[in-house]
Amino acid sequence: MSRIFFTRPLPAPVIAAAEASFDVEVRQSTLPMKPAEMRAALALYDGVLPTLGDRFDAGIFEEGGHRCKLLANFGVGYNHIDVDAARACGITVTNTPGAVTDATADIALTLMLMSARRAGEGERMVRAGKWDGWHPTQMLGLHMSGKTVGIIGMGRIGQAIARRCHFGFGMGVIYVNRSEKTLDFDARRMDDMKALAKAADFVVAAVPGGADTHHLIGTEVFRAMRKHAYFINISRGDVVKESALISALGKGRIAGAGLDVYEHEPRVPDALLSHENVVLLPHLGTNALEVREAMGMMAVDNLRAFFDGDTPPNAVN
Ligand code: 8YV
Repeated sequence: MSRIFFTRPLPAPVIAAAEASFDVEVRQSTLPMKPAEMRAALALYDGVLPTLGDRFDAGIFEEGGHRCKLLANFGVGYNHIDVDAARACGITVTNTPGAVTDATADIALTLMLMSARRAGEGERMVRAGKWDGWHPTQMLGLHMSGKTVGIIGMGRIGQAIARRCHFGFGMGVIYVNRSEKTLDFDARRMDDMKALAKAADFVVAAVPGGADTHHLIGTEVFRAMRKHAYFINISRGDVVKESALISALGKGRIAGAGLDVYEHEPRVPDALLSHENVVLLPHLGTNALEVREAMGMMAVDNLRAFFDGDTPPNAVN
């Protein structure tokens, strides 16, 4: 039986599914793996199930000659793994696309509504006992229905956000993407992010993380955004130049932001913590048991296919 290492505790049904086919060891810590742990895992196991935070960069693979032949990532984003370095030493990497789509899109809508309608501020005011009752001009926000959402990155998650905005809130949809998308509802492709920022009431980052998108969104985009508009990020923190976002918020260039990811998460800069008009979530993109189970089962399917000698369904390298 192939030996498989889970780098974090996962829902019990996922572990049981893996144990039906493999000799499984589950690391009990919920913290990211340290370099020595990652090297040991590559040496001792035939397959590893890593996730966000386990930085399998080129240095981890450099020795080569690893027993491990598959990294079945738990999550769609794999910018924490140097997939080319893995391939160079014969290691296949897979991910879990699709399983995260709806849950992540729902968090994007949550951030859009919470920031535009100042839900976080309101909830904090009530909890602090500072609410002295309703009045007509109390804590006015932005009405989201019928506005325009601008989506940067129209992959599965970007399209799921667009669909929710169009059908759920009667919003106009504009987007930037490397390719034109054929959708069953109106969505206008813009030439570039600045044109999108000038036309949107909400700008949503939904591109994958990695070298190609590092600091993709910075000063130029925030300068082009409208003063009443909100910036939303559900992708990866380093897709955004966080200092540029903080500057735009500090100068009141945009109305606010809703963030689920951070450039150096879990570190969140004080400058962001200090802004009342910023909603800050702790990477809740897929924080639902059934979704995490689906992600886990998809990773286990990739393990099974690979060790049955087949091409895993979600190989990325
Ligand atoms: C996951 C995510 O919850 O799938 C991803 O890439 O960011 C989230 O949906 C988590 O980060 C594990 O990867």
